[in-house]
Amino acid sequence: MIKLDLTGTQKFAPAPDAAACKAAIDTLVHGTGAGNDFTGWVDLPEHYDRAEFARIQAAAKKIQANSKALVVIGIGGSYLGARAVIELLKSPNYNALPKNTPDIYFAGNGISGEALSELLTMIGDRDFSVNVISKSGTTTEPAIAFRIFRELLEKKYGKDGARERIFATTDKARGALKTLATQEGYETFVVPDNVGGRYSVLTAVGLLPIACAGIDIDRLMRGAQEERRQILAEGVSSAAAQYAMQRQYFYKQGKKVEILAAYEPAFRFMAEWWKQLYGESEGKDGVGIFPASVDLTPDLHSMGQYIQDGERMLQETVVFFDHARTEVRVPSDEENLDGLNYLAGRTMSYINEKAMQATRAAHIDGGVPVTVLRLEKDNEEAVGALIYFFEFACGVSGYMSGVNPFNQPGVEAYKKNMFHLLGKPGY
Ligand code: PA5
Repeated sequence: MIKLDLTGTQKFAPAPDAAACKAAIDTLVHGTGAGNDFTGWVDLPEHYDRAEFARIQAAAKKIQANSKALVVIGIGGSYLGARAVIELLKSPNYNALPKNTPDIYFAGNGISGEALSELLTMIGDRDFSVNVISKSGTTTEPAIAFRIFRELLEKKYGKDGARERIFATTDKARGALKTLATQEGYETFVVPDNVGGRYSVLTAVGLLPIACAGIDIDRLMRGAQEERRQILAEGVSSAAAQYAMQRQYFYKQGKKVEILAAYEPAFRFMAEWWKQLYGESEGKDGVGIFPASVDLTPDLHSMGQYIQDGERMLQETVVFFDHARTEVRVPSDEENLDGLNYLAGRTMSYINEKAMQATRAAHIDGGVPVTVLRLEKDNEEAVGALIYFFEFACGVSGYMSGVNPFNQPGVEAYKKNMFHLLGKPGY
């Protein structure tokens, strides 16, 4: 489903390490490497909990029926995937567009009082529900937001009414959120023990908000399933494996930053999700490709100069969708004062593709190896496939670089300092 075009790297004569890649795939698939208790996502598209999946679909219907807005509370892996899929498959302007599904707001992904108060204003007196998501159940940012929204719901609907509108996605047994949910009788969904936050978009973590937005989660899972089957059948020659070994090869050649480039603004949060996936999985033990992203063509007018001409430490991966969902044509103009008649009748997607090809060629000339991932359409199956593609490639790439791709010890450092400064007991 995902076509990998490596012609833009050939000039750099890559010699990727297929043997190391094969060993990394075996380690991942057979669960014999570091962090192997967090590789449940590898088989997830085949072996997910069907009963819980049906409960997710039922909960989404209930929210759609009784709420004008859904507040999704979570941070990092507990929100980026859902936001990415909703923006890519619906729109970054989803809330502003006419629709018969609830607005979806994201909260608890920072500690800005201003952002939270603005969100309260936007919700106003409309009916709303809350999906609070935290695998650990103890993360400060979502916990603060949830305390505020829980109080609001209880004031608005009473304790019993609020109970009907709060959905908690968390560990099956541990953590403060699980304790609270059990005590208050909230409907809960499980983040499986063996799936870490940044690999959890295809669990209830991502699926409930995504389904609320009216996206077909069956088709999303089907896309991931197909991609998984293809990768496992093709092994080291699969597109995911090729991508993983290519990026590791270029890293060793000094291309220490990978920019993910897309030509659709709707892709912006997919890139944010990708940055977390790769940054948190690979950036440890003093090594790791730094994942960055650009939104093209807009960033060609800001970051384009650096990419073309700055320090030669960049490798680039482009994600491109072959077919646009809607077509806009450039009109013809008799006077042609803007000189654009040479484009009259052309679709914007045609021009966008030419811009991609031109930029790709320029960057290759400028010393940046460019890999292109092409997807036919941006529909549910394609996005499910892309998610699985990036997750699998990330696990393989992480093992190839010798790290444990499934832990995140570095994330604790700021928390300890913050808890100390805030006077949290025990710090
Ligand atoms: O990938 C991860 O593990 C992290 O980004 C977590 O998702 C993030 O820190 C949120 O954690 P939690 O879901 O426990 O609140």
